[in-house]
Amino acid sequence: MAFKVTVVSTSPIDGQKPGTSGLRKKVKVFKQPNYLENFVQATFNALTPQKVKGATLVVSGDGRYYSKDAVQIIIKMAAANGVRRVWVGKNTLMSTPAVSAVIRERSGADGSKATGAFILTASHNPGGPTEDFGIKYNMENGGPAPESITDKIYENTKTIKEYPIAEDLPNVDISAIGVTSFEGPEGKFDVEVFDSADDYVKLMKSIFDFESIRKLLSSPKFTFCYDALHGVAGAYAHRIFVEELGAQESALLNCVPKEDFGGGHPDPNLTYAKELVARMGLGKSDTGGEPPEFGAAADGDADRNMILGKRFFVTPSDSVAIIAANAIEAIPYFSSGLKGVARSMPTSAALDVVAKSLNLKFFEVPTGWKFFGNLMDAGMCSVCGEESFGTGSDHIREKDGIWAVLAWMSILAHKNKDSIDGDTKLVTVEDIVRQHWATYGRHYYTRYDYENVDAGKAKELMEHLVKLQSSIPEVNKIVKGIRSDVANVSSADEFEYKDPVDGSISKHQGIRYLFEDGSRLVFRLSGTGSEGATIRLYIEQYEKDASKIGRESQEALSPLVDIALKLSKMEEFTGRSAPTVIT
Ligand code: G6P
Ligand code: ZN
Repeated sequence: MAFKVTVVSTSPIDGQKPGTSGLRKKVKVFKQPNYLENFVQATFNALTPQKVKGATLVVSGDGRYYSKDAVQIIIKMAAANGVRRVWVGKNTLMSTPAVSAVIRERSGADGSKATGAFILTASHNPGGPTEDFGIKYNMENGGPAPESITDKIYENTKTIKEYPIAEDLPNVDISAIGVTSFEGPEGKFDVEVFDSADDYVKLMKSIFDFESIRKLLSSPKFTFCYDALHGVAGAYAHRIFVEELGAQESALLNCVPKEDFGGGHPDPNLTYAKELVARMGLGKSDTGGEPPEFGAAADGDADRNMILGKRFFVTPSDSVAIIAANAIEAIPYFSSGLKGVARSMPTSAALDVVAKSLNLKFFEVPTGWKFFGNLMDAGMCSVCGEESFGTGSDHIREKDGIWAVLAWMSILAHKNKDSIDGDTKLVTVEDIVRQHWATYGRHYYTRYDYENVDAGKAKELMEHLVKLQSSIPEVNKIVKGIRSDVANVSSADEFEYKDPVDGSISKHQGIRYLFEDGSRLVFRLSGTGSEGATIRLYIEQYEKDASKIGRESQEALSPLVDIALKLSKMEEFTGRSAPTVIT
């Protein structure tokens, strides 16, 4: 089928600066004439025509509302820009980690390889006609575009005048697997619809020992529950957990992907994953019955994860530390050792202690997965994680929610390998975490989020905190006036990162107050919201004394919380007496 290319005149639209993870806005913003088109063309222009012509591009996402329209628009623009072929997940579904895997691993029938991807997702933000849509571009290493590219995209959105589009190209049926071929002014153009679960499952099997996990899952001692929160993880969960690993069908909760995530907030934390939390015996009202031994959840695009034991929450900061501490023994992919480990700055220092004890290279990077990618490409990092429920490894260049679950299952299988068949008690998630704390010490940790705060006020609060940092004695006077039972603040700064691989510098990556006993207060503005500003406050305290590692986290941290709120004048600036979410 032949198509023509039309050039459409357009003009710049304000506010198209990509955030931490692409451009995220309300659906109604994306539906404005030329809004999506301008951003897509700004991206093609940033990549340069030489890279775009003849390329193989992946276009897919978490299947949220507006994806089906967006995918057709991008296909028509890709055709007009001389792209050779577009790969689309069936029904536009492809998790963010699966996109990364497809870019890195998949070969087309003619040996073609993808050079990049448009990922259609707003991750953990709600979806639906009145909620969020999002788009981000990933590069040929499978990771998010670096700032040098996203800055160029933004610049281009400010000057764009026109874009080419193949308006007469018929919509492609994305519900049917197969290749549709077209003929344009520059030659052939193919759209291939496929099921990315095949590539993803193959990759997971090359990393983990599925046989030992299968054995764990078949034991009556081990029970499991997985909540996809109606996100795209559901498209992989049945295949992996039920078909490959033999879990019960009833282990899957909310595993049918929905355009509006069933009206929920697809963010795997204790506040939003309500059903799972209740099933695991952690909710306000118990659902009755014995909770499963292991529970996990994913966000909309399946890159985030939450790990739970029976009546027990594993903080993401502890999770990555525990995975790193056990990876070599429990996960075949890492059996020859770890190249290094890394965490984002606001993530607790639990991983640092493991790195030190195992003598591993260690990196502290700004928030955002892209910073890990450079380290991984340079062979300096194998396992990394973030407090924001992200954990992953160098098997791809995105965090990977299902990978994290399989990593935990591998550790559980390893710790139980001698006991799984006999009468011995199961080594539980909680046992593993408590054992870890006993060995390495415990980092009490909590995060307070103040969502949708007035952007001007949030900026003022941050400026106030930066100004305070000029005099540490003054800070300590204020701190001691609030509580006398905490350590002194030893230093304070704004986190700045020099990438050890490319030397690029990222400034203003969060405000830190560091205490003499290793405690920390960190303040940051979220880069992923779509309305107003979100202030994040991260609070951490290190406890080495084995007799003091069993306290309730909120209780242990309450002196530091008190200090953080008063030091920042949180209520004065934001008018909020309580955070929107505590994790
Ligand atoms: C996305 C990124 C993560 C990052 C998180 C931070 O999920 O992929 O790498 O940690 O956003 O979000 P925030 O809202 O704190 O900027
Ligand atoms: Zn996500």
